[in-house]
Amino acid sequence: MVFNDPNLQIFDRFNASARAVLFPGDTLEYLKSLPSDLVRLVITSPPYNLGKEYETRVGLRSYLDTQRPIVEELCRILADDGSLCWQVGNYVEDGEVFPLDIYYYDMFKDAGLRLRNRIIWHFGHGLHASRRFSGRYETVLWFTKSDKYVFNLDPVRIDAKYPGKRHYKGPNKGKPSGNPRGKNPSDYWEDLVTTEFAEGVLDIPNVKANHPEKTPHPCQFPVELVERFVLALTKADDWVLDPYAGVGTTLVAAIRRGRKAMGAEKESDYVEITTDRIRRLMEGTLPIRPLGKPVHQPNGNEKTSRVPDEWLSLPEFKWDAGK
Ligand SMILES: C[S@@+](CC[C@H](N)C(=O)[O-])C[C@H]1O[C@@H](n2cnc3c(N)ncnc32)[C@H](O)[C@@H]1O
Repeated sequence: MVFNDPNLQIFDRFNASARAVLFPGDTLEYLKSLPSDLVRLVITSPPYNLGKEYETRVGLRSYLDTQRPIVEELCRILADDGSLCWQVGNYVEDGEVFPLDIYYYDMFKDAGLRLRNRIIWHFGHGLHASRRFSGRYETVLWFTKSDKYVFNLDPVRIDAKYPGKRHYKGPNKGKPSGNPRGKNPSDYWEDLVTTEFAEGVLDIPNVKANHPEKTPHPCQFPVELVERFVLALTKADDWVLDPYAGVGTTLVAAIRRGRKAMGAEKESDYVEITTDRIRRLMEGTLPIRPLGKPVHQPNGNEKTSRVPDEWLSLPEFKWDAGK
């Protein structure tokens, strides 16, 4: 079911009767204004310290030092049966790779959280490296505050590849071995918007369209990534918090699924885009890629899946290289 309220009001400060709060400023200031044990799900992608347009690059240690008080505040605000999902990639300095989840893990453990999954979010495209293998995944660390956390598997089950598989021995021999409600999506997520989202463009004959959700933000979540966590880790009317809201994908996903949503974002352009996305969501005009829609698979006829003609005569051209 999708939530809809054309009169939804977005507050800029926390208010216990609100359904949507967007704080236009520094996240630590906002977090300090929140009561303890409030939020069922914290989900975010923090700044990675890569020198993106919204951040100033500093040394890895200084970067981590600025994150520690934020992590401590988040753990205070998190409900006892709540979850925290931290999506990060690599920090790279002078060609050396520092996987940020390794560094964050200790920080969350020091704050008393327990890891439930380290999810690999795989995507098909990205920067092409020349002195190491090209990076094609990032991770989401899913922690809980205690052992009595909310976990709803059914709303996020996915279609089994081989639903017709049967037990071949034992007491259930001959009976279907899968679950009619679908299978557990596992901790390796590759069915989420890989090709289209990373490239931003679909190149199918007669169709050249931007991904429906793309905004000017350089590293925006796809709505369905957040939706999967919202559906699995929260209940209706729970609070969901994104301390680094960006263009508000978490707020959009949470509100759409009938949860209360809040976030902080320091860049006024992104605050404006978030406000506009929520307004369009409530009007029913925000384009969203549906959860579970199969990713576009090239059929060999697209311009981009054919070998360029000018390569065919090159001596270095090798199709099936190495095989
Ligand atoms: C990786 S982006 C998050 C994008 C988001 N997941 C989305 O879907 O749009 C991180 C965001 O954190 C914001 N940010 C960085 N430091 C902040 C701070 N101290 N307070 C509030 N926002 C901050 C940046 O402006 C940026 O938009």
